[in-house]
Amino acid sequence: MQIFDQNGSKIVHGDVFEGLEASVPDGSANLIFVDPPYNIGKVFNGKKEKWESDDEYLQWCYRWLDVCVRKLHPTGSMYLMAATQNIPFLDIHLRKSLTILSRIVWHYDSSGMQAKRLYGSMYEPILHAVKDRTSYTFKADDIMVEARTGAVRKLIDYRKSTPTPYSNSKVPGNVWYFPRVRYRMPEYEEHPSQKPEPLLERIIKASSNENDLVVDPFAGTFTTCAVAARLKRRFVGVEVDSRYVGVGLRRVGHTESEEHLTPPPKKTFKAQQPTPREQPQLF
Ligand SMILES: C[S@@+](CC[C@H](N)C(=O)[O-])C[C@H]1O[C@@H](n2cnc3c(N)ncnc32)[C@H](O)[C@@H]1O
Repeated sequence: MQIFDQNGSKIVHGDVFEGLEASVPDGSANLIFVDPPYNIGKVFNGKKEKWESDDEYLQWCYRWLDVCVRKLHPTGSMYLMAATQNIPFLDIHLRKSLTILSRIVWHYDSSGMQAKRLYGSMYEPILHAVKDRTSYTFKADDIMVEARTGAVRKLIDYRKSTPTPYSNSKVPGNVWYFPRVRYRMPEYEEHPSQKPEPLLERIIKASSNENDLVVDPFAGTFTTCAVAARLKRRFVGVEVDSRYVGVGLRRVGHTESEEHLTPPPKKTFKAQQPTPREQPQLF
């Protein structure tokens, strides 16, 4: 195992269990974002994820989930992603130690391959859980979105003594739309399940404060750590694959990188010019 430390934030090259024990004191993580291998046959840098049975996979998940709960601060929050078919089991396990506040659906556009004989998969579930339901960070003002009423004119709330227009912003509901990370996007890295920065931005802004500790036990391309650094949070990211650790060192702007972890060069693409939208015909 190798730990790259920069001003208290850490990139850890190692297995989830030893990585968390070595770099995150119990009760210290204000926010943990967990995006584990889903056990659906994805290939991470040439290695196919594979467990002998569903039960074996779930037992492994329960072990690191329990470690994450122990690492979580008493007022901390945890977000957990998993495959749609596995999330109910993890939900039941997590409920023994945390309160699940929201069951979020991350909805996205379909992939290139369109399903022909079944309904294509267009979402991934995310659990939002806290240790203490009476005391946790939720910064609603930092994540407001436009409230769409469907009406062109502003709706008026006549229940008030002086009728006033309804607020045009709101806290997001539990269905989130963010496009998946695709090949030509500036944030794209070569990884089969990289999560979009705007998704992590919403989670980190809502559930942590500046200088808080944000932990990602399966960091992949270190999206969580890159966004946490930009938002002035401390971070720990653990990842078993050295190639992805290299990507992480580059993304968070780490200055000392070992030779075997030399970050692969980042592909750069010219941003595409949006095609001008046709102006509506006025008459
Ligand atoms: C779903 S991906 C995470 C993607 C990440 N959220 C991102 O935005 O790039 C899961 C990651 O867990 C890593 N991984 C698998 N087994 C691990 C283990 N035992 N310990 C630490 N990391 C592991 C894989 O290499 C993979 O990069």
